[in-house]
Amino acid sequence: MKLTWLGHGTFQIVLPDGETLILDPWTNGNPSYPAGFEITRCDTILVTHGHFDHLQDAPPLATKFDSNVVSIYELAAWLRGKGVAKSLEMNKGGTQRVGSVDVTMTHAIHSAGIAQEDGTYVYGGEAAGYVLRFGDGRVIYFAGDTTVFGDMALIAELYKPDLAFLPIGDLYTMGPREAALACKLLKVPVVVPMHFGTFPPLTGRPSTLQALVPDTKIWELTPGVTVDW
Ligand code: NI
Ligand code: MN
Repeated sequence: MKLTWLGHGTFQIVLPDGETLILDPWTNGNPSYPAGFEITRCDTILVTHGHFDHLQDAPPLATKFDSNVVSIYELAAWLRGKGVAKSLEMNKGGTQRVGSVDVTMTHAIHSAGIAQEDGTYVYGGEAAGYVLRFGDGRVIYFAGDTTVFGDMALIAELYKPDLAFLPIGDLYTMGPREAALACKLLKVPVVVPMHFGTFPPLTGRPSTLQALVPDTKIWELTPGVTVDW
């Protein structure tokens, strides 16, 4: 499959047959979105929580590509109200097949209010993560925004991820110190760091994390540069 970091917490996964997943879509206004990169297909969108930097472009992308949009129960209802026809709700511990991928929702420790244009917030359920199990047997854990939590050991035991996407930027999520413990709890060989460097306060860096976990491959991607995995 082909992985492309689209900056901040946004990723594109293209499977060998072209099936395309977009994780936490934030394109317009994302300071680290790769200039000129065009999303040309989008079968499935996964949204971890209701903050704008993970949600903002889900409705327009879903409308343009008639995408499935997976999210937690309350956020799924909100998305339906925004015109998303194929809003697939679920909750933590549950699994559903979306396209060719088995999608399991996991816990995350983070807030999840949905900002409204008038400055108020709508309850968006809870923040979540996802485990993606692909047809070839490989498993990705996409943490969303979270700090480390002890039950990452359960994710390791239940799903045995081959690759994890972990936030490391600090301030709004865990930083490298916490992410290092997450690497150990998840027993995952390869970690793609995310949610860092977008704005100056997101100070965590992959090199800092790598120094703390020499036995884990910290795989730093470049926004807009597609890699094979
Ligand atoms: Ni957030
Ligand atoms: Mn965020």
